[in-house]
Amino acid sequence: RIESVRGRRVWDSRGRPTVEAEVRLAGGALGRAIAPAGASTGSGEAVDRRDGGAAFGGLDVTGAVAAVSGEIAAAIRWLDAADQQTVDERMIVVDGTANKARLGGNAIVATSMAVLHAAAAAAGQPLWRHLAGDRPVRVPLPEIQIFGGGAHAARRVDVQDFMVMCPGAGSFGEALDWTAEIYRAAGLAMKQAGTLQGVADEGGFWPAFASNEAALEALVAAIADAGFRAPDEVAISLDIAASEFGRGGAYRLALDDRALDTAGMIDLVGGWIEAYPILSVEDPVAEDDAAGFAAFTARYGGRCQVIGDDFLVTNAARVADAAAAGAATAVLLKPNQAGTVTETKAALDAGKAAGFGTIVSARSGETEDVTIAHLAVGWDAGQFKVGSFSRSERMAKWNEMLRIEEALGSAASFAGRAALGFRP
Ligand code: PGA
Ligand code: ZN
Repeated sequence: RIESVRGRRVWDSRGRPTVEAEVRLAGGALGRAIAPAGASTGSGEAVDRRDGGAAFGGLDVTGAVAAVSGEIAAAIRWLDAADQQTVDERMIVVDGTANKARLGGNAIVATSMAVLHAAAAAAGQPLWRHLAGDRPVRVPLPEIQIFGGGAHAARRVDVQDFMVMCPGAGSFGEALDWTAEIYRAAGLAMKQAGTLQGVADEGGFWPAFASNEAALEALVAAIADAGFRAPDEVAISLDIAASEFGRGGAYRLALDDRALDTAGMIDLVGGWIEAYPILSVEDPVAEDDAAGFAAFTARYGGRCQVIGDDFLVTNAARVADAAAAGAATAVLLKPNQAGTVTETKAALDAGKAAGFGTIVSARSGETEDVTIAHLAVGWDAGQFKVGSFSRSERMAKWNEMLRIEEALGSAASFAGRAALGFRP
């Protein structure tokens, strides 16, 4: 049973305040978790509670922290931590808003994940095992950013994430080995070209490119330089994050000051799929463009995974609607988009029921918290997206997954190519 709940202000990878929750059970078990924060957020997401005012650009979270120690603690005290759904529903009811704005999505998600950790600790099990029980689980296929972009790099290029996936790797560990070589090759090439300018928000190289296509060419070259065949061994994955530069069927690309309608946007991204070894695309059109998603999926969903992030916002009902409309083939799962562990799991279950690929994902604002690595394995999501291959808020998650793969030992099966949300 939950005995005490405490909030604390800590700091995220952008140096901004965020919420940590600590949950102690009557038997002494402790759970702790930290809320992440997005930069390219979908409008349907749970909303973080920020103080406003002058301090830290208005981003302080003293109200959300007080909500954890106050209203939330009072609401969930003495509930059974192993009954995650009851705990989460209680917080939703007490909050009373549709988007968790009153108590704060940040306050609620940190508490929800801390309760989950406390329940696993009470059971004496690692979180992934506590979630999986006796069911077989896979170690997920990672999507790893090489170049940042979009809102994470001052819109230097339009595309937000230029990533690699290693469907040809034999294990998660090997996928990291390969990615390390590609990341290194990409950095070396930029250094030699004199364009190396540090890294973007998620640790990918700063996109000092004259066009989106130039970044794609550089990624293809890095994969080849590192000695891998594309797309069988290593493929490209893109997060277009098109909601950042499009709405109402009108898109404005910053790089070449080009205006496109939905059909133009589909042709642009589709052209990249034709020209480059791309096996996954996220948010190719904006969150309000369901017809665009359906048209894109009808055209390319048989050869490329189509992921909804801002479009589906980790919402089970939206996932079911998208499946019925043929408007995606995969769903990104971010616990703080939904706001609770229970709702995140519901979105994952809806994705699986639809035959979608399911990808557990970090945010651009992250911390040392590694909860999502455990969710990805314990829920058998099959795919895992954490950002790039530098900065410890990213590496902490990759490294935690290595530990889990080791703990699984001979029972570890790597999700690999089969985890992708399309059947060629
Ligand atoms: P965000 O972006 O965390 O900044 O919202 C991540 C993504 O779009 O996948
Ligand atoms: Zn995204």
